[in-house]
Amino acid sequence: QTGLKDAVSGHFLIGAAINQRQSDGKDANATKVLKRHFNTIVAENCMKSGLLQPRENKFDFRAADRFVDYAEKNGQVPIGHCLIWHSQAPRWFFTDDEGKRVSREVMIERMRKHISTVVGRYKGRIKGWDVVNEAIEDDGSFRRSPFYEIVGEDFIEIAFKAAHEADPDVELYYNDFSMSKPGKRAAVCRLVKRLKDAGCRIDGVGMQSHNGLDYPDLSDYEASIDSFAACGVKVMITELDVNVLPNPRGFGGAAVEQNFEYQKKYNPYTAGLPEDMAEKLRERYKALFDIYRRHSGQISRITLWGISDANSWLNNWPVPGRTNYPLLFDRKYNEKPVVDDIINMY
Ligand code: XIL
Repeated sequence: QTGLKDAVSGHFLIGAAINQRQSDGKDANATKVLKRHFNTIVAENCMKSGLLQPRENKFDFRAADRFVDYAEKNGQVPIGHCLIWHSQAPRWFFTDDEGKRVSREVMIERMRKHISTVVGRYKGRIKGWDVVNEAIEDDGSFRRSPFYEIVGEDFIEIAFKAAHEADPDVELYYNDFSMSKPGKRAAVCRLVKRLKDAGCRIDGVGMQSHNGLDYPDLSDYEASIDSFAACGVKVMITELDVNVLPNPRGFGGAAVEQNFEYQKKYNPYTAGLPEDMAEKLRERYKALFDIYRRHSGQISRITLWGISDANSWLNNWPVPGRTNYPLLFDRKYNEKPVVDDIINMY
């Protein structure tokens, strides 16, 4: 039977983020869908710095090892996510014993140690790493993360160099969200150029693509694919999903609080997604995969942020306990009609 991966082969890899239960091999439905439809996986959480190095120099590779074993066993290309990210990083990374922020020198040493240990461990077994995640704001300025504040702008180069030293053959990516925003697009292009000028290896730019039914604007999205490709890197759609519930991004101050209260109560589709909404979701995915098809020379991988609606992070973000429908497989791991639409498009 033709799966998604067969349909899009010759265009790009297609895959999904999997959670720890899944990479532990305890979710037979997930393994079944993966084998039929996908050929690449990324760890949803277990390769993030706080999980790999919860205390300084105390690495815990158990879950990540199982993830890589699982990929190999099931014929999936494993992608590493992510080396340097301010979120889900352990607090010790940025502070000394007294809780004061460390110096630039100490911070650089810790980054290098983390990167060389993690990349070195999976040398030759991982296709590529998200080296730096979410370092640029939507307006194109640098995010004021502890990495930026302690080390300065060159923390990104330092990370890419350390990753390349640890595994000269592994692909290296920059990954971020809201990549269709023009200010961010321009800044990411500047960053790619800057890394190349500094002699760093960079193979790809990841557009997370946590999309909604009406965002991003698809012409902006396409413009970003073109711009990144024009910088001489591969484009990857790295965390694709389509949120059908409203979210409070873009609000500020008191409005956030008000909006959060509203979001918590706004959980209208617990009994199932109404037909008109399901149709909107289907059309949205078709429009996205039409773009990917037309840009397939520029795109090397599409990764969905999860397999089934049952385990999507969007049931719990930005507020916990909602019922969302963002993926290609429903809560019972049955494929939605759009899966066939996509297969027929390619
Ligand atoms: C999310 C996971 O899906 C959740 O399980 C976790 O609680 C928080 O992180 N951008 C990223 C991903 O790069 O790592 C995030 O994953 C989603 C947003």
